[in-house]
Amino acid sequence: MSDKIQTLISQMTLAEKAALCTGDSMWTTTAVERLNIPRLLVSDGPHGLRRVANVHAVMEKSQPATCFPTASSLAATWDVELLHEMGQALAAEAIALDVDVILGPGVNMKRSPLCGRNFEYFSEDPYLAGEMAAALINGIQSKGVGTSLKHYAANNQEFERFSISAEVDERTLREIYLPAFETAVIKSQPWTVMCSYNKINGAYGSEHRQLLTDILRDEWGFEGFVVSDWGAVHDRVAALKAGLDLEMPGPKKARVQAVIDAVNSGELDEAVLDTAVARILRIVFKAAETPKEPLAAGQGSRFDVAAHHALARKVAAAGMVLLKNNGILPLQHPQHIAVIGRAAQTPHFQGGGSSHINPTTVDVPFAELQKLAGDAELSFAPGYPADDSIQQTLIDEAVAIAQTADVALLYMALPGFKESEGYDRPDLDLTVQQVALIKAVTAVQPRTVVILNNGAAVTMSDWIEGTAAVLEAWMMGQAGGGAIADVLYGRVNPGGKLAETYPLRLRDTPAYLNFPGENGVVRYGEGLFIGYRYYDAREQPVLFPFGYGLSYTTFAYSNPRASATTFKDTDGVTVSVDVTNTGAIAGSEIVQVYVHDRQARLVRPAKELKGFTKVMLQPGETKTVAIPLNFRAFAYYDPAYKQWIAEEGVFDILIGASAADIRASLTVTLQSTAELPSILHRDSTIRAWMDDPRGQAVLGPFLQQMMGQGGLFGGGDMGETEFIGMNPMDFLRDMPLLSVLHFQSDGLPQTPEELVDGLLQQVH
Ligand code: BGC
Repeated sequence: MSDKIQTLISQMTLAEKAALCTGDSMWTTTAVERLNIPRLLVSDGPHGLRRVANVHAVMEKSQPATCFPTASSLAATWDVELLHEMGQALAAEAIALDVDVILGPGVNMKRSPLCGRNFEYFSEDPYLAGEMAAALINGIQSKGVGTSLKHYAANNQEFERFSISAEVDERTLREIYLPAFETAVIKSQPWTVMCSYNKINGAYGSEHRQLLTDILRDEWGFEGFVVSDWGAVHDRVAALKAGLDLEMPGPKKARVQAVIDAVNSGELDEAVLDTAVARILRIVFKAAETPKEPLAAGQGSRFDVAAHHALARKVAAAGMVLLKNNGILPLQHPQHIAVIGRAAQTPHFQGGGSSHINPTTVDVPFAELQKLAGDAELSFAPGYPADDSIQQTLIDEAVAIAQTADVALLYMALPGFKESEGYDRPDLDLTVQQVALIKAVTAVQPRTVVILNNGAAVTMSDWIEGTAAVLEAWMMGQAGGGAIADVLYGRVNPGGKLAETYPLRLRDTPAYLNFPGENGVVRYGEGLFIGYRYYDAREQPVLFPFGYGLSYTTFAYSNPRASATTFKDTDGVTVSVDVTNTGAIAGSEIVQVYVHDRQARLVRPAKELKGFTKVMLQPGETKTVAIPLNFRAFAYYDPAYKQWIAEEGVFDILIGASAADIRASLTVTLQSTAELPSILHRDSTIRAWMDDPRGQAVLGPFLQQMMGQGGLFGGGDMGETEFIGMNPMDFLRDMPLLSVLHFQSDGLPQTPEELVDGLLQQVH
């Protein structure tokens, strides 16, 4: 704690300290004018600023700000430099709008594609999500504006999001649901972390000491303050004790009083309160170091609106994923284009809820298309209504214009009533009308391109076959309309790849049997196996795999190599591969590195993403990409040892263009330098004893001795294969040593417990 903060705390009254730990409005912390402690102003988040002028307002229309694409699109860029650049632009807007901390990014895992808020999250893969978040945070914070990494943790659905208990086993939590937070904290030290609404294994996110203190601070070294999600606090004192520093929103007199009373009654150690105050003050003063523009109505935006809009277009184009293309794209100057779908005129570029931004301007896809279409004739039909009704006349009208056109472009947006913060999706389908529309149009016009605006995977099996191309444009931000035109006309060669698997059917998805839970509990029964980890393990066919995306050019991979074939876990290893653009136009390729453990004590996914890079190549150009893999790339979290373990042995390194398109593989051998303690205990099985090197060394001679004294189970020779019809060692292997000894305890020199304890003593 700095001297300044220490002095301030010593000057603050108990009431002032308690008040500082609860907000003063919807969006500000409590200032202490007497001591020149300014307020801190926070604002949503995450892909643009939702800055409301009146800090006491919840739903007020916010100040104009650039609406960038949402996280699904950002993740599909796999471009950490671009996200850093976008972060800097967000910070510039925060400064112009007098915002100290942006409430984002969100790094919750896409456990089920049904989660209504998946559009605000990056990926089903924790490594990718962590890297993208860290890049964005570093970009924002490099300009002196803070972030709030959210929602910590296991907030993976909207159903009962304020109360449901996510029941997650420790290993799954460590390997799937926490690493994106961990990476972001370690690589980018967000100023704040926002706890989740839900419970995690029975304890509210706001009161979860293990998450808020033991893991976040003690293990990962988080230095900022923890803020509650809006309304996530239940017991203010319990939350403080667990490590939740700031409750939002405020003001809340009763909460402040509860803290004062708890200190006065001795229930809460004042030192705990002082720690929270110190953490908040550190960020308050850090924020004050970056001068902000005072917000004045009617003056217009004081950031570079045009430059940010251009950046939003670049990001949107980079995130677009070309899912199917029979060669129709890029468009070769068709003369008559049927533009179908409401989303061409009324763009769907962001999601509903707290992230909803008032854009500075919005590109209309139809108008942007027209700009690039030269003298082509464009006709338009809305194709589907704004609501969920079925309107055959709209379909008929669309079919009529499609029939006579050279090409039909279908702009299909998943409506807000099917996808938003606050509620989960009922299914993975487009609306009934949209599906009927696509079928009707493709029946008369084979040269049909479907352009999708949605925040998460949709199913397409009903209609994809009839299409010539499908472009996933996501919730593409305010400049997405132009970005679509850029991709359709080949001004941008699409380079995005899916950060989430597109399943064939809802019932194929990993959490299908355990989503969204019941009676206040959702069991994460699929464990580690979410996303491609699940589809790999089940050998389950999917519509489009994780990491997949087409380009207008092609790439070849060659000359894969590792910096060493045998390496120490502490050193890690670097893998390299040459990538060549084998097509006729420039393009970017996302090279993905997955690791497969050939043999492990615990079950492991068939492969896991542990590195990636995006490389831009001119036609015919070759570049070498090098991807370092550290200890964690090989490790799993073992709850028995309570630590990450990279087991000695052989690993396959799979270098791919997607999770289902492995282009090269390497085999490397890891040498472990770790000294693991023995975890043998009284109830350990013979197998566990034999798997433990020290256990084996002690048990082996003991068994020999036992056999020498007449064998186990009353005299049979353990070497005999004819032992009540089976191999004796196989039969005994899964019995605890103690139970084996109990079968003949009368003939033993000591009790079985004494014998096992004696052996354990030799081991430990
Ligand atoms: C959301 C947060 C958001 C906060 C403030 C909550 O309902 O879950 O993501 O930052 O509101 O708007």
